Amino acid sequence: MTTANAIIVGASSHLSKEIARQLAEQKVSLVLFVQDPDAMAEFAASLPTKVDVLPLDIENPTAIISQLEKVWLSLEGAHLVLVNTGLNAYSEALPWEIEQDIIDVNVRGFAAICNTTFRLMREQGYGQIAAINSIAGLRGGPSVAYHASKAFAENYLEGLSMHAQRLKLPITITDIQLGLLDKAAMQKSKLWLPPLPKVAKQIVSAMQKGKRKVYVTKRWRLVAWLTLLLPEFIYNTRHWKAKKKK
Ligand SMILES: NC(=O)c1ccc[n+]([C@@H]2O[C@H](COP(=O)([O-])OP(=O)(O)OC[C@H]3O[C@@H](n4cnc5c(N)ncnc54)[C@H](OP(=O)(O)O)[C@@H]3O)[C@@H](O)[C@H]2O)c1
Repeated sequence: MTTANAIIVGASSHLSKEIARQLAEQKVSLVLFVQDPDAMAEFAASLPTKVDVLPLDIENPTAIISQLEKVWLSLEGAHLVLVNTGLNAYSEALPWEIEQDIIDVNVRGFAAICNTTFRLMREQGYGQIAAINSIAGLRGGPSVAYHASKAFAENYLEGLSMHAQRLKLPITITDIQLGLLDKAAMQKSKLWLPPLPKVAKQIVSAMQKGKRKVYVTKRWRLVAWLTLLLPEFIYNTRHWKAKKKK
């Protein structure tokens, strides 16, 4: 019997770890790419499956490309690559340094990972690329580069999916549109902040069903729909108008 294996790029966040845990419980062997492998040793050892932890240098596309190629060779391919890297920051002054960092990680690094994985899966003849994206990409927003980077990711994934179909290759591309969970956490909204295991379970299930695009949790689909529907003059006010002092 072939054991399923998965590579998670950006595996250090709470959400990533929960996804890794749920995949490991299903006996999927894992390669976890993280910035600080030593900090992940204890977590990796606690999982009931084979786990390798490797360093991630996403800001250097040449490095991440060769890291992926190397691990691909040693694993003799992979069934799933989950891209969970992401950087977000906000400063009213919009300093270029922050914008550049976000673009480096969320656009350049993201594209390097997806492009390389697609090429490797093309040679392999099958596979699944899943990425944890954000509904923030549906419209512009005050974290300007972040919102734009998520739109880039959505468009890039759609392009890869179309390309796989043209090549008649069974390569599944799954765009996981995560709700604004940080915002919900900040606002202490129980309605919009589901427990982490539930978020991870919906992501794992969507990947296993080979979904092309999924909103997690499901109720964020409604927010996505409303976000797209709002006329610009209302949408802009929602983001920029200072709250009146009581
Ligand atoms: N959390 C939310 O509310 C939310 C909502 C919607 C969408 N998303 C998106 O969902 C994805 C996952 O989010 P998350 O909350 O699980 O995690 P996260 O805190 O956004 O970080 C995701 C991963 O990216 C890695 N990363 C960030 N900058 C990096 C860099 N320069 N080099 C290498 N790795 C880097 C982080 O590693 P370190 O831990 O080592 O920094 C972490 O493993 C992201 O794309 C995020 O934008 C998140």
